[in-house]
Amino acid sequence: MSTAVVTGASAGIGYEFAKILAQKGHQLALIARNLDRLNEIKQELESKYGVNVILIPADLAVENIAEDIVKEIKYRQLNVEILVNNAGFGFCGYYHEQPWANERDMIQVNITSLSQLTKLMLPSMLEKKRGRICNVASTAAFQAGPMMTVYYATKAYVLHYSEALALELKGTGVTVTCLCPGPTATNFQSTAKLDSTKVSKMSAMETAAQVAATGYEATMAGKSLAISGTTNKLLQFSTRLLPRKTAGNIIYNLQKKRQ
Ligand SMILES: NC(=O)c1ccc[n+]([C@@H]2O[C@H](COP(=O)([O-])OP(=O)(O)OC[C@H]3O[C@@H](n4cnc5c(N)ncnc54)[C@H](OP(=O)(O)O)[C@@H]3O)[C@@H](O)[C@H]2O)c1
Repeated sequence: MSTAVVTGASAGIGYEFAKILAQKGHQLALIARNLDRLNEIKQELESKYGVNVILIPADLAVENIAEDIVKEIKYRQLNVEILVNNAGFGFCGYYHEQPWANERDMIQVNITSLSQLTKLMLPSMLEKKRGRICNVASTAAFQAGPMMTVYYATKAYVLHYSEALALELKGTGVTVTCLCPGPTATNFQSTAKLDSTKVSKMSAMETAAQVAATGYEATMAGKSLAISGTTNKLLQFSTRLLPRKTAGNIIYNLQKKRQ
């Protein structure tokens, strides 16, 4: 029996992704910090869809936590065929005013743990010539993001890392998909100290279920890039036509209003 691993499965897009995977009959290994919420989700998915749900509570901001997670996966003899690197968070505010600990943790969760989990899970996928990896970036990945400077930069990393890896792995049976959601109705906005009412007034927010469905389809089809939502696709295309500095300035003004 193969297993799908989902990070950040206790809420938002990760939870909806886990739900779709359970509906499709996959055994799950769910990762997040909130064990109470994970336990509720385990009960819900096991009783509704009859799949086995394993919980691996972990803080992905902890250095080398990926090694402990993979040890647990090996100890339980899980055959991981799908990895959804979804956990992530952002923070809005001037870079010089933010405590370093926030940004250090953000880089650790959004970049380092994602890359390390992928590195540690790839060999067994390559051996079996079978695997699907989905890395959740953002439409933030396509331009500089003043007021969310580090967050946008972490997502640019995820996009470029995923696209490069997808090309390296061509023909191996393992695919890498980069899912880029735009503004989505989840806890992300409050964690990032963004005023969600202002964000939703400025841009049509997708639901987490819509984003997860786009991500699931693209991942199973082995597509390298999936931008969720037609408006987000058009916006992303239009930023390509603008000078980089102009695109950055537009984000700066939007972000100041969103605070
Ligand atoms: N919502 C948006 O507007 C939006 C737009 C573009 C991209 N995204 C991306 O989509 C992904 C999912 O975000 P979301 O919108 O679903 O946000 P969310 O509702 O806040 O969910 C975030 C998930 O990540 C987990 N997480 C956060 N920090 C963690 C840590 N240190 N260790 C382990 N797990 C951690 C949380 O679980 P615990 O708190 O239980 O640990 C939670 O399950 C993120 O990568 C985000 O950057 C979101």
